[in-house]
Formats: sequence, structure tokens, C-alpha cells
Amino acid sequence: MQQTIAFVLVLLQFAFNADGALKNNGQFPRNFLFGAATASYQIEGAWNEDGKGQSTWDEFTHRIPSPVTNNDTGDIACDHYHRYKEDIKMAADLGLQAYRFSISWPRVLPNGYADTINEKGMQFYKDLVDEIVKYGMVPVCTLFHWDLPLKLYENGIDWRNEKIIDIFVAYSRLMIQNLPKVGYWSTINEPRVHCLRSYGDGKHAPGIAESGIADYQCSYVILKAHAKAYRMYKKEFPHYKAPFGIVIDCQWYVPATNSSEDIAAAERYYEFECGMYFHPISKGDWPDIVKKRIAHRSQLEGRSSSRLPQITPEDIRLMKGAQDYIAINHYFTIMAANAEEASYDEINYKHDVRVNLLNDPSWKISVLGWAICPFGVRELLKHLKEQYGNEPIIFAEIGVADDGTSLKDDIRTEYYQGYFCYILEAMQIDDVNVVAIIPWSLMDNLEWAKGYIYHFGLIGIDFYNDPTLTRRLKDSTYFYRNVTTTKRINCDNVK
Ligand SMILES: *[C@@H]1O[C@H](CO)[C@@H](O)[C@H](O)[C@H]1NC(C)=O
Ligand SMILES: *[C@@H]1O[C@H](CO)[C@@H](O)[C@H](O)[C@H]1NC(C)=O
Ligand SMILES: *[C@@H]1O[C@H](CO)[C@@H](O)[C@H](O)[C@H]1NC(C)=O
Repeated sequence: MQQTIAFVLVLLQFAFNADGALKNNGQFPRNFLFGAATASYQIEGAWNEDGKGQSTWDEFTHRIPSPVTNNDTGDIACDHYHRYKEDIKMAADLGLQAYRFSISWPRVLPNGYADTINEKGMQFYKDLVDEIVKYGMVPVCTLFHWDLPLKLYENGIDWRNEKIIDIFVAYSRLMIQNLPKVGYWSTINEPRVHCLRSYGDGKHAPGIAESGIADYQCSYVILKAHAKAYRMYKKEFPHYKAPFGIVIDCQWYVPATNSSEDIAAAERYYEFECGMYFHPISKGDWPDIVKKRIAHRSQLEGRSSSRLPQITPEDIRLMKGAQDYIAINHYFTIMAANAEEASYDEINYKHDVRVNLLNDPSWKISVLGWAICPFGVRELLKHLKEQYGNEPIIFAEIGVADDGTSLKDDIRTEYYQGYFCYILEAMQIDDVNVVAIIPWSLMDNLEWAKGYIYHFGLIGIDFYNDPTLTRRLKDSTYFYRNVTTTKRINCDNVK
């Protein structure tokens, strides 16, 4: 007993110094990875070069009238396809230990199917990975970051159709065979955003607006495709060491008041947004509250079955445990309040969730309306550990947008300093197993349907005024380089 108490005291001494600061003066572990992230459609350009097939995003951004702010497109974007050597050197100069990118599926497979390979496209990703490895960085690769081959879509194959599953697995197998130096694999980026925007409200390519039906079908098909790709990887590539996962976006949700209704609303929102994807993979089924809410409304709409596809016992065998690590994209914290039950005539995701969202007036808000709340990231990490066990966690994206008018981007430095400090607290005090932080983004890029007006980059590009697309260092570039090279963060003034 006495020994236990002494041990606890020693631990406490290590965890805090006299004024409650972090131990080891804000030092991250030696083997911790600091990186930066990008995605193919947002940076590559070269939309119709060297045999690349079109993606649904090429078709979407070329529509007239354009669904994108300022009629922006990814036709050129950062011109990364032609400048990847410069960009990877820039990443190395930033002191990064990891670089996250995604593969444009139609650049490698113009029709989507693995039987017709565009060799130049394949070579691009081989060269890219070699370049990343040359500088000693770990390549972190996402197989699908939203740019679906247009040919598949035109053939009726998208994420609503289970036929896509084996086609995706074949594409995954091919990339894994050809890129053996990748250090972390992930299948799909942000299934929630993808399904809600591309098949729910139609704001993303291919623009399907069938909220409450097609978005859930998409979630189901994506989870199955992910799980099947995971099983294929484990079976066919047992000699590969790279962990395999899926990137799930998850914010932090706090109740607007301490009423039991609002507390339940915050939990419900978490389960609809995050649990919907984490739960099937860790436990094999949808979260209970999600199943109940959708079944309840479906019944009162007069349906004979729920609009949420059923996860079968066979699906559970496939999905449960289908990841080696947790990859999250995290940006902000938001408040949830209970909402009134909406009329059963209107079918959509929002009515299923039945939550109103708001920001606390005391929170600092970025140009996208997202609250900068570093405390939220620690709460999320504690929750993930409690819910899904202490698997290694990677932040595959984290960051803040500004309007890009100044390279003196104090908001970004402040954001990263605060969030890194709270992540380190979760690691040191709550014993959460975070192994990497990969901010969004290495450089400014196309923010999907919002165009080029929002800037997330650690490196600046002035898309509207500078046709040379010169990469420019920001104040946050210097701040981050200090963090990546020292693996240390000063948390003295962080609230
Ligand atoms: C976008 O394109 C339309 C034509 O389709 C044009 O009328 C409009 O002025 C363009 N907007 C911008 C901001 O360039
Ligand atoms: C809810 O209760 C907690 C703990 O009692 C308190 O810290 C928090 O400020 C309260 N939240 C609101 C919105 O009243
Ligand atoms: C680098 O970070 C350390 C704290 O981790 C700080 O003491 C130092 O001033 C920083 N250097 C620069 C050049 O910002």
C-alpha cells in the first residue's frame, strides 16, 4: 500500500512542476512525428495531363453555372504535379518527419478499374514517395480523398452502390503493391463529410442531394469498402509493417447548458458525427442512439424499415477491429443544444440528429466560423481513449483557416501552440497514445466548393494575384519549424 502511494506521488511529480506546467518543459517524445498534409485534387492540378482520367471533381468544378466560389477549379491548383520536387524539399526544409498525401484514383486508373493502368500516373506516385523518403520523411498515404473516377460514376458506380467495394479493393491492392515504402496507409478521408456533402446536401461532387437516405447508404458502403480493403491488406501483405486505417473527422461537442436535454444533444451529435464511423470499426455496429433515432423517424414516416442500412452479422465480422491505428481530423469545438422534433414530412440528416449548433460568445472564431478551443482537443482524446481503447492516434489533419491577406498569420501560430499544448497534456497527464500530428495543410490550396478564399497553409500561395504560384513563408512557417526541429512547445502563456 505504502509503495503504491509512493509510486503515485512520483508519477504526480513527473506530471506537474510547481506551477502545473507540463513535464520535460513541453518536450514531445523523440520518435514523435510532426508532418503536414495535402490531398490530390486540392494541390495537383494537371487535371487532364499524361493520361489522367477525369474525376467527379473535374466534372463538378467545370459545371456552368459553377457550384464553386469564384468559379474556382483544381485545373492548376498549386501545380504540384509539376512542382512536387520543390514542394517535398519545402516540406523537408520545414523539418517534417512525415508527409501526408493522397492518390488521385483516376490519375492512376483512368476508368477506375485496376485492369487499365496509366503508367505515367503510377510513376508520379512512385517518384513522389521516393522523393519523400529521400529526405527521411515517412510517407502517409490516403487512397481516396474524394476524387472518384468520373467513368465509374457515369457507369452508376459511386459510394451508394456496393459494386464499388471490390473495385476499390482492387485499386487499393495495386497501390499497396506499387508503393511499398509508404509508412502509414489509410483508405478513405473523412467518410462523414464525404457522404453528407456529396450524397446528402449535394455541395460536393457529384452533387447528389438525398439527405437522410443516400448519405447513410454511402456511410455503409464506405465502411464495408474500408473493412474489406483492411482484410485484403492483412491477408495479402503480411510482410508489410505500415499500419492501416481510415481517417475520421471528429470535432468536440459541448452541451449548451447543463440541462439533461442538452447533455444528451451533445452526446447524440458526437455519435452521429464520429461514433457513426468509429463504432462499427471498434465494436461492429452503429451507435445505439443513431440506430434508434433513424428507426424512430423512419417508422413515423410510414416506412417498413429504417433509412439506415442494417449492419449484418457478416458485416460485423468484416468491420470489427478493421484498423491498426486511429486517424482523426480535428479542427474545432462546438456547442450542441436540444432541438424540437421536426415534421415527419421532411427527411434529412439534420432532423435525424435533432440538434442546434452554436458557439459560446467567449470563444475566438476563425473566418470559417470555427471556434478555436484548444481544451476541446484534450477532451476528445480522453474520450477516444475511454471509448475505443488506447490505440495509437494520429492527427491526420488539424488547423485553422484565415483570409490569407497577410503572411503575419498570428491566428495560425496561436492555434497550433494552443492545440499542441493540450495534445501534449493529454499524452503526459491522461496517457493518451498520440504518435503524430500532421497539420492541414503544407500549403494553401483549393478548399473544395469554397474555392481559394480560405487559407489553411503553413506556406502561402496567392492564387488570385500571383500566376507564378510562388510559395511564401508565413510567420507560422517559422513557428512550426521550431516545433518540428526541437519537438518542443512552450506552453507558458497558453490558456
Ligand atoms: C463565373 O462564371 C459565370 C459564367 O458561367 C460568369 O457569369 C461569372 O461572372 C463568373 N464569376 C466569376 C467570379 O468569375
Ligand atoms: C456545467 O457544469 C459544469 C460543472 O458543474 C460547469 O463547469 C459548467 O460551466 C456548466 N456549464 C454550463 C453551460 O452551465
Ligand atoms: C523555439 O521554441 C522554444 C520553446 O520550445 C522557444 O524557447 C524559442 O524561443 C523558440 N525559438 C524561436 C526562434 O522561436
